[in-house]
Parts: sequence; structure tokens; C-alpha cells
Amino acid sequence: MFFRQRAAANATLSYFFGCAGLHKAVAVDVVTGDEDWFIQEAEKAGARIAHVIDTHVHADHYSGGLELARRVGAPYYLHESNKGRVSFDFSPLTDGQRLESGNVLVDILHTPGHTPDSVCLVVRDLRRGDEPWFVITGDTLFVGAVGRPDLAGQEREMAAQLYDTLQTKLLTLPAELEIYPGHQAGSACGAGLSGKPASTIGFEKRFNPMLTMARESFVEALTAEIPPQPADLARIMEANLRGIAPELTVAGVAR
Ligand SMILES: [Fe+2]
Repeated sequence: MFFRQRAAANATLSYFFGCAGLHKAVAVDVVTGDEDWFIQEAEKAGARIAHVIDTHVHADHYSGGLELARRVGAPYYLHESNKGRVSFDFSPLTDGQRLESGNVLVDILHTPGHTPDSVCLVVRDLRRGDEPWFVITGDTLFVGAVGRPDLAGQEREMAAQLYDTLQTKLLTLPAELEIYPGHQAGSACGAGLSGKPASTIGFEKRFNPMLTMARESFVEALTAEIPPQPADLARIMEANLRGIAPELTVAGVAR
């Protein structure tokens, strides 16, 4: 398989990976303006972009996912809970769904908490083994931290939901599974993120302070010191929910 992690704007980490043998690729959490990079990487890999996924509707950056999907003729995926919430067509993701990209398989985990629509992607490469190799965790689990729970409102309820998601879904995955998060240090989507852009489930279980707390302590800790909201949050959310590129918002369409 091929695999690229791209350090994008706003301390976002995007991903491009797939099967070189069968020429199919997956693009995850594309930031607007980066569409050409994904197309060039696909050309280098000799692969067609078969799936474009956003792990959730982002509040801190304009998504380039819908635009990339349109340009390459691929489906654009969001969690199914966005039906009726976003004003464009997308391919709905459900918990337990599997996407195929040649010998690379992507299993969808619905992981609400940072937002109600968050998903994680459990990836396996059949050329290497039957078991998952890594998990793309979006803003659910970071290296050294977890996602902020307040962006969708109801921060205590969301924090409790995030605890349940982490403990019952992510931390039950094998310890050796690599973690590739949606952000690194400097992001407004969480507090205390490491500058190292990858980890493992086992290491985070032992050394991520948010993962060793009881439920009530976790909720208290996560809601005690919430970082400032991302700059331009309302405008970014509106554009991402409407599927309107930022240049159009500048031209006055979305403002
Ligand atoms: Fe986020």
C-alpha cells in the first residue's frame, strides 16, 4: 500500500492512501486548496481516487473534500447523521460499513463525542495481513489528548459520549494498532496535543492522561478548561454545511 500524511493548514493532518497494485486510493480530511496535491499524489501512485471522506463536518477549516470528489468523480462520504443537515448530496457512512480500495479495506466506526457525526477509519492492508494496521481517528483521539466536546453545544453530554466512544470502541482495538489523528499540536480542536503526528492504541492507553480517568473525572477535566473556539467558526461551519468553497464566500455568496 502507499500512505501519505499531509500536514495541512490549521495544524490539520490529512491522509492519502491506497492500493498500488489495484490502483485505488482514499483521501481523508482534505483541506481546501489542497485538492491539486491529492490529484498529483494519485498520479504519482498510478491510482484513481475512489473514495473521499471527511471524518466529520469541520469547524476549524474549510473542507476541500467535496471539491476534490467532484473533480475526480469519486463519492464524497460523511456520516449518515448529516442527512438533512448539509445542503448537498453525499454518500452516507454507517457504523460497521466497509469501503474497499483494492487490497486496502476501510471499516467505519461511528465515534460520536467531539461531534455527533464523527467517524474513525480502521484500515487493513490484505497484502500484509488480515488484521487492521492503523486507525485514522479524526478529532476523536489525538496523540496525548482527545477532541474538544463543545463545538456542537451540550458539552457535558458530548464529553460523556466521547468517554463512552473511547472506552468501548477505540480502546478495545488491538494495542499495536497505529493511530493517525486529524490534528497535531497547534490545533483549536483539542488541548494538549503532541507535536508527534502518530502513536499507537497501546501507548495512548498507558500515557494519554485522558484515557486513564473514570467517566465523571473525564467529563470534569474535559469541560473545565475549554480552549478558545476556532477563529471564524460560524462562517467555516456554514460554508462546510452548504458545500460552498471559500472563494465563493469571499465573492459574497455565503456571507
Ligand atoms: Fe474537528
